[in-house]
Amino acid sequence: MKYLAIAASVFLLGTAAASADAIEDRQAHMKERGAQMQVLVPIAQAKNPFDAAAVMDALKALEENAAKMDIEAFWPAGSEGGKSSPKIWEDMEGFKAANEKYEADVKAAVAANPQDLGSFQAVFGAMASNCGSCHEAYRL
Ligand code: HEC
Repeated sequence: MKYLAIAASVFLLGTAAASADAIEDRQAHMKERGAQMQVLVPIAQAKNPFDAAAVMDALKALEENAAKMDIEAFWPAGSEGGKSSPKIWEDMEGFKAANEKYEADVKAAVAANPQDLGSFQAVFGAMASNCGSCHEAYRL
């Protein structure tokens, strides 16, 4: 009996640690996106001069980041917390679809290889709108 209680508490500690890691990992993953957006947004708003190489570096970093998005590892069952809405686990298919759309739009922006502000703004708007729409639906 005592052994069972110890085993159960070790198990509970284990899952708590795993979900704390998942929250930390997904927030770190999202922070990488935020860092690239700090380069891209002022350029898109014409507050900083257009720089094709800087834009491509940031877009490629977002593409690499998107390829590392691992929903099973970052949002495992039982890892509710952080700013993740419970809706993620209630509507995992919708969350995955939002992620796939985002990744497709990032790839399209890289493939467009924008060489001037106008063509960058055209692909950037579509890509960046995914951040807001997913956050609105699935972030607290
Ligand atoms: C498919 C859904 C989805 C997309 C697309 C998405 N995010 Fe997020 N993001 C989330 C969720 C969910 C959280 C909350 C994570 C948590 O705290 O558990 C989050 C959190 C964040 C955070 C806060 C991280 C922290 O330290 O707490 C930042 C910054 C962020 N996202 C930036 C972005 C940017 C920039 C984009 C677009 C380039 C983006 N996200 C696209 C779902 C998404």
